[in-house]
Amino acid sequence: MNRLLNSIIENNKKWTKEGKVASYIPELYKMDPDLLGIYVCTLSGEEYFSGDFNKKFTIQSISKIITLMLAILDNGKDYVFSKVGMEPTETSFNSIINLEIKDPHKPINPMINAGAIATVSMIAGKDSDEVFQRILKFARKISGNPAMDINQNVYKSEKETGNRNRALGYFMKSTGVLDGNVEEILDVYFKQCSLEVTCKDLARIGAMLANDGVLPSSGERIVPRDTARIVKTIMVTCGMYDASGKFAVDIGVPGKSGVGGGILACVPRRMGIGVFGTSLDEKGNSVAGIKVLEELSKQLDLSIF
Ligand code: DON
Repeated sequence: MNRLLNSIIENNKKWTKEGKVASYIPELYKMDPDLLGIYVCTLSGEEYFSGDFNKKFTIQSISKIITLMLAILDNGKDYVFSKVGMEPTETSFNSIINLEIKDPHKPINPMINAGAIATVSMIAGKDSDEVFQRILKFARKISGNPAMDINQNVYKSEKETGNRNRALGYFMKSTGVLDGNVEEILDVYFKQCSLEVTCKDLARIGAMLANDGVLPSSGERIVPRDTARIVKTIMVTCGMYDASGKFAVDIGVPGKSGVGGGILACVPRRMGIGVFGTSLDEKGNSVAGIKVLEELSKQLDLSIF
């Protein structure tokens, strides 16, 4: 398996020359554009890796699946989806247009920024600090990485330049989607996006989802089977934004991307996969990361469809 991963990384290294490193968060633009790595955790406990699997990057939008799980655990799925929709969208991850023209009272899904910010606002805690500490504790547990923490430079950079997210936040405050202090909700969102991870962390989270909400390493149930099912379904339909259809056709497994270059994929009842390739396509998804997953899916016949 390691030989297969080595050859897939080698074959697809050329794709790191395509696309661009995210620059709208200045600190992200400092990342080396040539990085490419993969980590696979099978449900029987085997772990395989290749390339830059050890390099740290920020989790960015992949954190939206973590906060979706916590929001459902805290409120139940009926409440969460009464506030945030579950339909795919053909517009970009930071789009405001659906909020304006489709439903100003309900962001279209929990994976676009508006829906993710609304989801964060539902997580329990006496103040924003406690909410973030709960997210961090949960993220550390499901990744098996007790040292996971914020990249302070990325966090500061996001907070300084996150005016599109502020616009989404204040728009949703004006229409009653958000209760509470918008800056505090956004602060939690900026922090969760700035969590620093490796491919291994993503693969372990993916393996928990692939295992229907149970950590394969310890057998501990993290979320009910139904919650894991919902999260995987939303990943298939919305996880890669307006490229979710193509990802489903070409790769065929639940996936979630982040502008840090990571993609978390999970193959139900088989494995979790973490991929990292810094250069992004125009939709904000890792160009080489998608190619790596495409080849792996073909070689191992991973598509669930
Ligand atoms: O909200 C933002 O713009 C970023 N912190 C996260 C966006 C993101 O990762 C989109 N995914 N590809």
